[in-house]
Amino acid sequence: MQSNTACSEEERYIVRKLEITDKNKGFMELLQQLTVCNSVSDNEFQKRFEELKLYGDDHVICVIEDATSSKIVATGSVFIERKFIRSCGKVGHIEDVVVDSSARGMQLGKKVVDFLADHARLTGCYKVILDCSADNKAFYEKCGFKEKEIQMVKYFI
Ligand SMILES: CC(C)(COP(=O)(O)OP(=O)(O)OC[C@H]1O[C@@H](n2cnc3c(N)ncnc32)[C@H](O)[C@@H]1OP(=O)(O)O)[C@@H](O)C(=O)NCCC(=O)NCCS
Repeated sequence: MQSNTACSEEERYIVRKLEITDKNKGFMELLQQLTVCNSVSDNEFQKRFEELKLYGDDHVICVIEDATSSKIVATGSVFIERKFIRSCGKVGHIEDVVVDSSARGMQLGKKVVDFLADHARLTGCYKVILDCSADNKAFYEKCGFKEKEIQMVKYFI
């Protein structure tokens, strides 16, 4: 009898928090598909990983690992801002969402955004916000977001 080695989508794409070993699974190369992202040494990666760990639930990076290739194929992060307004309320900020070009259109981006938005809700945020290009507006609408106000920026480099 033939053994069934095929795995379901859920078994294949593992949604979890970033682990230190993800640098060797293509995490930095994936970020390069998003923006300027020079390579970092193992030491630099470890230092930043340890720094972020100190924030605990206030800074979470989600990744999706493809179990068949052991590659990170999607990621995104959420930062929890603690405010005085709204009775010392909290706001989640989603950043750096990207899916590997070979894995787009399979709901992985939505899975990442859902994971991050759920994290913000479960840690008590009254809202979760993000900036995006006009091209990605429809994607975030599919994730339950709506357009509000405008984005301003001042670059220092
Ligand atoms: C934007 C991005 C993250 C979307 O990831 P993805 O995994 O391909 O998207 P999903 O498969 O989860 O899409 C979810 C839904 O949004 C739709 N969608 C995705 N991208 C879209 C787009 N650019 N325009 C319109 N609809 C889009 C999908 O068709 C799908 O709709 P459905 O549920 O009706 O089938 C991915 O294209 C990407 O990494 N782009 C480059 C980096 C980037 O721009 N990141 C965003 C920074 S703000």
